[in-house]
Amino acid sequence: MPKFEKHIFVCGNQRPEGHPRGCCDPAGRAELQKLFKVKLAERGLKGKVRANQSGCLDQCEHGPNVVIYPEAVWYGRVSMQDVEEIVDSHIVGGKPVERLLIPDSCLNAPSCEHRLPKK
Ligand code: FES
Ligand SMILES: [Zn+2]
Repeated sequence: MPKFEKHIFVCGNQRPEGHPRGCCDPAGRAELQKLFKVKLAERGLKGKVRANQSGCLDQCEHGPNVVIYPEAVWYGRVSMQDVEEIVDSHIVGGKPVERLLIPDSCLNAPSCEHRLPKK
């Protein structure tokens, strides 16, 4: 069996309503991850690219979050409408979807305009 070429990790973490950090999948339905799987299969990528449901990726304030490896490209505020574009542009075409990228100044920063300083 050839190994997977890419992994798409889709945060499926849930937190109670009103939590200061928010969460990526308040309804807990894993809809984004399921749609990635459908779109990958439609393009014949089953077995090559895997869409995994992940736990918290610690970028909660920018969510719903998705990270694609091995290139470590981070997407934030991903909606159901964005999934097809990510698959076609990034996975098939090799061109990340710029408008959804989490800025480097936000990634793992102790604070940013979206994230309060850690106490
Ligand atoms: S809840 Fe999704 S990154 Fe933390
Ligand atoms: Zn930010």
